[in-house]
Amino acid sequence: MQNQSGFVHNFIPSPNMGENGALTLLLLHGTGGDENELIPIARMLKITNASILTVRGKVLENGMPRFFRRLAEGIFDLNDLKFRTNELADFVLNASKTYAFNLNRIMAIGYSNGANIATSILLIRPEVLSDAILFRPMIPLVPDTLPNLSSKNVLMSAGLHDPLISRDQTEDLFNLLKKVQAKVSIKWQNSGHELTQKDVKAAREWISSSFNTKIN
Ligand code: MLT
Repeated sequence: MQNQSGFVHNFIPSPNMGENGALTLLLLHGTGGDENELIPIARMLKITNASILTVRGKVLENGMPRFFRRLAEGIFDLNDLKFRTNELADFVLNASKTYAFNLNRIMAIGYSNGANIATSILLIRPEVLSDAILFRPMIPLVPDTLPNLSSKNVLMSAGLHDPLISRDQTEDLFNLLKKVQAKVSIKWQNSGHELTQKDVKAAREWISSSFNTKIN
């Protein structure tokens, strides 16, 4: 489905979405993925009663969808990143009215490029997300004015052998999130940039220890 903001997306309501505190998962794919990429991962998390809003990035790099332009691997076009971050944040706000989901409980689940734009939303539009699971993230930008993320729960799941993101880059993001007071945890996987079952297990354990959210 495509609305006037031009984002291809899919909203999958939970039967209990009207309930107070009902969670919506915002799924943000990696480079070359689309809005279907993370649905199996979200299903594996088995969060009872969570709705899903899943979005396709609008920027094409050699035909591969992304959420913002990059100049080279890991080197981002910061003007485009800021513009795209605000555009996506506004889309989520509008979608919460269109689909009547709770704006106070939106958890981003992002992989790689999707994790990077989720982090950018946390840093420059923090009102849009309550929590985030970031698979293979790095620092997308450092805003001039740092937000206070003390109400946000964040899980970072990183690959010890990731050829795209060094251990230092991962730790830099962890330290930045700590500095802005996010409740951030990091889990290291014995893997590269790809997602593994261990990432899903880590996310399930983190959800059950961090929230009063039912998983089954
Ligand atoms: C990015 O461009 O966001 C990162 O380099 C990760 C990716 O390859 O998508």
